[in-house]
Amino acid sequence: MRITTAIAALILGVSAHAAKPAHDIETRIDDLLGKMTLEEKIGQLNQYTGSGYSPDMSGRVKAGMVGSILNEVNPETVNALQRDAVENSRLGIPLVFARDVIHGFRTIFPIPLGQGATWNPALVEEGSAIAAQEASSTGIRWTFSPMVDIARDARWGRIAEGYGEDPVLTSAMGVAAIKGYQGDDLTKPGTMAACVKHFACYGAAESGRDYNTTWVPMELLHDVYLPPFEAGAKAGAATFMCSFNDINGVPSSGNPYLLRDILRDKWQWDGLMVSDWNSITEMINHGFCADRSDAAMKAALAGVDMDMEGHAYDNNLAALVNSGAVPMETIDNMVRNVLRLKFRLGLFDNPYVDMATANRFYTPEALDAARRTAEESAILLTNSGILPLGKRPGKIFVTGPMADAPHDQNGTWCFDLEKSHTVTPLAALREKYGKAVSYSPGLTYSRDKNTDFGKALEMAADADVILYFAGEEAVLSGEAHSRADITLPGAQTEYLRALAATGKPVVTVIMAGRPLAIPEECNLSKAVLYSFHPGTMGGPALANVISGDAAPGGRLPVSIPRMSGQVPLYYACKNTGRPTTEMTLIDDIPLEAGQTSTGCTSFFLDAGHEPLFPFGYGLGYTSFAYGTPVLSATEMPADGSIDISCTVTNTGKRSGSDVVQLYVRDPVASLARPVKELKAFEKITLAPGESRTVSFTLPASALAFHNAKGEAVIEAGDFLLWVDDSSACKSKPVEFRIK
Ligand code: NOJ
Repeated sequence: MRITTAIAALILGVSAHAAKPAHDIETRIDDLLGKMTLEEKIGQLNQYTGSGYSPDMSGRVKAGMVGSILNEVNPETVNALQRDAVENSRLGIPLVFARDVIHGFRTIFPIPLGQGATWNPALVEEGSAIAAQEASSTGIRWTFSPMVDIARDARWGRIAEGYGEDPVLTSAMGVAAIKGYQGDDLTKPGTMAACVKHFACYGAAESGRDYNTTWVPMELLHDVYLPPFEAGAKAGAATFMCSFNDINGVPSSGNPYLLRDILRDKWQWDGLMVSDWNSITEMINHGFCADRSDAAMKAALAGVDMDMEGHAYDNNLAALVNSGAVPMETIDNMVRNVLRLKFRLGLFDNPYVDMATANRFYTPEALDAARRTAEESAILLTNSGILPLGKRPGKIFVTGPMADAPHDQNGTWCFDLEKSHTVTPLAALREKYGKAVSYSPGLTYSRDKNTDFGKALEMAADADVILYFAGEEAVLSGEAHSRADITLPGAQTEYLRALAATGKPVVTVIMAGRPLAIPEECNLSKAVLYSFHPGTMGGPALANVISGDAAPGGRLPVSIPRMSGQVPLYYACKNTGRPTTEMTLIDDIPLEAGQTSTGCTSFFLDAGHEPLFPFGYGLGYTSFAYGTPVLSATEMPADGSIDISCTVTNTGKRSGSDVVQLYVRDPVASLARPVKELKAFEKITLAPGESRTVSFTLPASALAFHNAKGEAVIEAGDFLLWVDDSSACKSKPVEFRIK
């Protein structure tokens, strides 16, 4: 999918690989391959988990039986094992050390969903570069990030790890992360190979239950799930990871359509495909393979180059080659992909961690970037005018299980977290407001069901304003942490009711790994600030936003539901034959009402048809006015484009940022199209009274959709276009045509 100039440079970013010309690398690969035994070739295809320097691992490395090690982060151990590979193995092929560095290594940035909420790819790139510097200073040169799985079901715990529900936003953020990790030259110290995962459709897990099966028709696969992967491949991501799930019955780890036809043949990608943890062997559980040998064969033939801790390749590939079930050419190509990564990373020339610069963490620049990212990801959902609090808001009562939770505010996937470095909201608010702050948690952790709130309610009654930090502990989202009920856990809502009953104004701040259904919480609060787990500097960032020292810069990367039963929920839905023009909600239905009296349209009696807050939405501390979009032409050919500009003015009294969003609808097509689709966006910051004209280029190719054969088609006809500040698009659409 092509996108407009505002973000095109990011998505079409220059491939960040080799300092050496590609043909040099290919020659060196061929030379090496010619010297390798079958056992040494297969050795390169195994990734094992590290557990210190053991005689067992050292022996395997010296024998050339290990291609990569994950989860070893002690630079001395890394160097010792690397020495075994480079100096004590027959061919001296270096290892590549890998780790899940998902949203920072030691300096933790907001979870990826929070980074998505910034709508600011430059920040994502900056944060990823810092993560690469920190992690590579321990020897990690390969991260399993970014996750670009589209997630439209907030029950899925891994919604935390991606950039939300939309392919254009996710593509922009994924590409930014790749650029940040890999830089412009992967051989430079301080860089890491990115890994675009999980290929593919992992986020489509039925009912949001992790690892669950997926049914994805070709149209949806190509329109929604694949574009961020294509953007990642074209941006030069050095590696991909296939997903755990099956798609229409075929597990990704044995899926030649995805791994070969699409990724290698159509997108011409030449990186390394790693399995997910044991996902090759798990094809036996799927009921797709008879045993490990069958699984190894299907994965190798489909295009999985490296087996992550699954022991399917190490024990079976040699026999499969000898029997002719797997051609030697297939093995050679798999090994080529592994060696290419190692050459691209410069590991043959520079294999060791430089101990003089090892373990560099928490620089002032890193902490500053983490704080700015958290500020720009905080989404103001409601505000009666109580925020910002300003310099002297009177007595502030800080409460709630997330107010002082240095572990939990960092969210999922923080293997390397040192919570002593986390600054919590309580600490930051005390720093800012001193003795005006009083504190009692009320509830000790998010699942706490104890409704004896103790002294907290007395302290609340004595305050001028209550800051209630609620949400989810880190462990309630992420891998294998799906929830069927996506409300606030424990007694948090009950506690909020009690706080509100004191009559004192409550500002609720949610720190969570997913969008939570919080309609009542919004009604009980004078303002609601939503912060997906914000990381190390979450405290100072939120304190700045609350006080007004910073503006809330976040916009929703996902729709927020009213209740769990509404999910999957996403703005780019179809219109249906019965769109909601009228509805009667459950409490308004008269007794013995007639079957058709509520209006026969598409809605829930108890939730209506709209989200609580739409994708793209978020308030600031100022207001903006949007002019009517101006089009360079109202007609374009199928190979043409239209330029669109829109003038935005800050009509308020404070400086602030807004995300200008371009949406399009194709009202009549050979396949029913979504009611709206994001095509481009740009985040701008304007001083009070300042105006800026934002310009987008919309190519007709961006209006293509895919048919049941997976072919892209561009159809002539009328289209509607909005430039607006959320997917709710309250403005009048402008029309244009493809001839
Ligand atoms: C399983 C997860 O699905 C994947 O995202 C992760 O990178 C690997 N384990 C390695 O930890």
